[in-house]
Amino acid sequence: MAERMRVDKLLAHMGFGTRSEIKKAVKGGKVTVEGKVVKDSGFIVDPFLHTVAFDGERVVYRNFIYLMLNKPQGVISATEDGRERTVVDLLKAEDRLLQPFPVGRLDKDTVGLLLLTNDGQLAHELLSPRMHVDKTYEAWVLGNVGQADAEAFAQGVRLDDGYVTMPAELTVLEKRTAEGTSSDPVLHVEEKSSLSLIQLTIREGKFHQVKRMFESVGKRVLTLKRLAMGPLVLDEGLGLGQYRELTHEEVELLRGHRGKSKAE
Ligand code: URA
Repeated sequence: MAERMRVDKLLAHMGFGTRSEIKKAVKGGKVTVEGKVVKDSGFIVDPFLHTVAFDGERVVYRNFIYLMLNKPQGVISATEDGRERTVVDLLKAEDRLLQPFPVGRLDKDTVGLLLLTNDGQLAHELLSPRMHVDKTYEAWVLGNVGQADAEAFAQGVRLDDGYVTMPAELTVLEKRTAEGTSSDPVLHVEEKSSLSLIQLTIREGKFHQVKRMFESVGKRVLTLKRLAMGPLVLDEGLGLGQYRELTHEEVELLRGHRGKSKAE
């Protein structure tokens, strides 16, 4: 669909400065459309058809942004907050221009995969309770997680508010006994205790769901990391707090996935 707009608006949208800075630059002959200098900021262009350049640099227009963040601890999954640092605060100014927002929430102390986008339709569909998009987490849990827990989670467990969860898949990856003074501060526990490293896939996203599921079987989540959401898998090359744009293939996978409601 053709989308015509003023050239100053296009340049502001793509982060080339404020409207008044851009006006000045246009007057100064820094902007070309189809190779010709344009001195009128109100010149109308079709950003998908016309070649616009600023100071000789080609301006590539786009509407949507899709970012994969490895969320660190201590930031909240919101766009802005009066007091707390948000995941959007971690983005470079140029990546904030298109106003991406987090798709769903991770708790302040949860790390791992968080998708940020301004594609409201995709976000809405990925979050729709009818879609049952898989979310896979890895966690260190205080307690000896075993077969009984896996069976309970496969059946569904009753949370503190009475809600019974949908079937979820639990795998135990590793067990340790912590001696009270574990050298890893996160896994430090008061007394000699069993710790279990687990992987859990859930298909819904209730408030604090993973933590509350373990509470329902008498155990406590110590650390929580999201590894995957639907077909999107955390890029382990991203350190905590780092992010990158999704590849074209990843966006297409998400788009394909959203149409596949698993609701009966
Ligand atoms: N479940 C939780 O308890 N916390 C999260 O951040 C995500 C899932």
